[in-house]
Amino acid sequence: MNSGLDDVVAAETTLSDIDASGGALIIRGRSLDELAGIASYEETLALLWSGFFDETLDAAGLRRALGRARAEIFPQLANRRALAARLPIVDAARALIAELADGDDFHTALRLVAAPAVFTPAIVRIKRGQEPIRPDPSRGHAADALRMLRPDASAEEGAALDTYLVTVSDHGLNASTFAARIVASTRAGLTSSALAGLSALKGPLHGGAPGPVLDMLDAIGRPEAAEAWLEAALDSGERLMGFGHRVYRARDPRADALKGAARRLARAGSDRDGRLALAEAVEAAALRILARRKPNRSLKTNVEFYTALLLEALGFPRDAFTAIFAMGRIGGWIAHAREQAQSGRLIRPQSRYVGPRPERAA
Ligand code: ACO
Repeated sequence: MNSGLDDVVAAETTLSDIDASGGALIIRGRSLDELAGIASYEETLALLWSGFFDETLDAAGLRRALGRARAEIFPQLANRRALAARLPIVDAARALIAELADGDDFHTALRLVAAPAVFTPAIVRIKRGQEPIRPDPSRGHAADALRMLRPDASAEEGAALDTYLVTVSDHGLNASTFAARIVASTRAGLTSSALAGLSALKGPLHGGAPGPVLDMLDAIGRPEAAEAWLEAALDSGERLMGFGHRVYRARDPRADALKGAARRLARAGSDRDGRLALAEAVEAAALRILARRKPNRSLKTNVEFYTALLLEALGFPRDAFTAIFAMGRIGGWIAHAREQAQSGRLIRPQSRYVGPRPERAA
């Protein structure tokens, strides 16, 4: 039995493909390297959702429709302040998303994509004792989400969040996507599927642990200290956060897409205290040390390393990172849920019973 289902193929998909040894990610026939540089989240959604709804979609139409959906769900926050203040950010976002009506239609899908983009910044602001900021439907999805956190956010910062959302929009049959597909296979509805995806995503083995990368950078402090700190961490049996991946045996292409976005941001003046230079020094030292210590493994930078750096530079607190991940991945969950529902098969594997059997009467 393969308890992690590592090599089991459990779905056929037209959505995304991971080239583990070549270090490439294909989203509907386009490489991430190409998409992350030029496409907006709305364009990526138009690609991912194409063929799964009756509505004809282009990026401009989706931008308008998503703007309306953000405005539509904002009033839901009015009597949910106490909940937002009390629960961890991702749990509060999940509770608010759970209040949305279930369904399989385009309108439900739009409201689900709008939800983490509206609720996450509002929850962060409520926790800080600030007023939530009303969506501006005329803006792009990423830029508006960031503006609802920080009204002073620049166009370059909005573009960096857009690149992040595109980069994490879909990634094969990862745990949260599989969870979303299982629920979709029962015909429960898109809201139920997205909630299953979010519940799987929040675990630290999936999307719940980009914070430790920042803890590591804080502890290292300056580029010259990287080598000695990393050697000592490995000597004491620790793993280096932001390196290694279950599937990729080459560099995670999402790391490069996000490093590019972090560099563009730094050039636009958003690099606080040389944080990017520190991260690049730590990355270079970590790759050298891991290659020397584990010559038979291919331990490279993964998506979490530059996610942490980018989201921090944009002003999101560490405990909001998982909800921001969901803001991008929810478009992928919805596409997978529609694809699964259309393939028409209930997912129902077997288990092997290894517990006690009833005693036989003599
Ligand atoms: N630092 C040091 N050594 C490592 C690291 C690391 N980051 N990752 C793996 N190794 C070592 C292991 O100790 C093991 O060594 P051994 O063969 O001598 O025992 C070997 O490399 C392979 O380890 P596995 O556990 O088989 O690797 P697996 O592919 O199962 O793990 C994982 C992948 C969990 C991501 C791992 O690399 C890790 O813990 N990385 C650090 C945490 C991290 O960055 N998580 C985010 C992942 S990206 C994402 O999930 C979206």
